[in-house]
Amino acid sequence: MKDAEELEKIRTELVQLSRLSLLGKERDVQVFIRRLANRYKQLSPEFADNLTRLLREANSQSSVLRGAAVEAIPVDLDSRLQLARPEYPVHLDFEPHWEPVLQEALEQLVSERMREEELYKENLHPTRTALFTGPPGVGKTLAARWIAHRLERPLVLLDLAAVMSSFLGRTGNNVRNILDYAKGLPCVLLLDEFDSIAKRRDDDTEVGELKRLVTVLLQEIDNWPGKSLLIAATNHKELLDPAVWRRFEAIIEFGLPSLGDVRRTVDLYLGDLGKQWGAILATTLQGLSYADIERLIRRARREAVIQRTPFDVKLRKIIHDRVGNLRKTERTDLALNLIEAGLSQREAHEWTGVSRDTIRKHQDVRS
Ligand SMILES: Nc1ncnc2c1ncn2[C@@H]1O[C@H](COP(=O)(O)OP(=O)(O)OP(=O)(O)O)[C@@H](O)[C@H]1O
Ligand SMILES: [Mg+2]
Repeated sequence: MKDAEELEKIRTELVQLSRLSLLGKERDVQVFIRRLANRYKQLSPEFADNLTRLLREANSQSSVLRGAAVEAIPVDLDSRLQLARPEYPVHLDFEPHWEPVLQEALEQLVSERMREEELYKENLHPTRTALFTGPPGVGKTLAARWIAHRLERPLVLLDLAAVMSSFLGRTGNNVRNILDYAKGLPCVLLLDEFDSIAKRRDDDTEVGELKRLVTVLLQEIDNWPGKSLLIAATNHKELLDPAVWRRFEAIIEFGLPSLGDVRRTVDLYLGDLGKQWGAILATTLQGLSYADIERLIRRARREAVIQRTPFDVKLRKIIHDRVGNLRKTERTDLALNLIEAGLSQREAHEWTGVSRDTIRKHQDVRS
């Protein structure tokens, strides 16, 4: 075949393949790829091998979800809406960096699952239930996704706040159905906003049925089988009475990011833009959560585009606003940190409004 003809044929096939993919016709896409692999077996064996491997990998991945488990996704009887949709495979946009202590705890959860045979031999079992606690936006949900990603298991998410607030008599059944479903599937089950069960326990309205539901939930946690990992996440550990959080086999605390992690996060969201702002932004944004940092920088980027304003101007505004919210002593601290991050005394004064005299005095104390 002439080159031009061949090229034309490939183009037509690409369009066909794109259409099938966009329509979500997984089976047709697979058939199509298999045919391609056959056709190129002689002409380009390496290319054909690559395609065959892709097919094999895709099949072994989706087999986790295939069969009974997927068909049994519980639905609400009235609305027929799926109550919890498993996410699989779990894809992460970036590889998160965890504080060393946290990293160790999370790795332990993953390794126990990966090497559960070794544990069973010693009459032990992998950790079945874990409670993630910490302020908003510090990576609890991300960590649950990361674990599912590492284990190549589906993530099933149940937002308890939503479930509890839409309490309609059948909620109890719905929750039970989801728990039963998650028990039967090797997955990571995330019970998000776990403290909402505590908040509602003291509520006078609908007490009876809700109390029963909470009791069931706690019993389920007590007797959680080993097949899947149950993770509960809460911003308010203090709202859970100790009897509740003692039920979990592991309690993992998430904290605000350290200066190094703030810097990494700032750089991640700045991308190639405004690289020279990394150190000063990180110093200024220390004390905020990952989520706050992400929100501020993304908003600055959007505003810069829509308002046709240089990105620098928007970054300056972030720093200015943040300084405006600090107390005097915090501003002095910031001024000193900025100097440590490489700014001159004059620049630190300009950014923070702290007089150079004060800066000098505190510099003496620090050194
Ligand atoms: N270690 C990390 N490195 C980089 N980004 C992170 C990290 N942890 C969290 N983030 C980012 O911060 C945002 C919030 O994270 P996440 O939703 O996991 O927080 P959370 O603790 O579950 O918050 P909430 O209590 O509000 O549910 C996400 O966009 C996430 O990507
Ligand atoms: Mg969360």
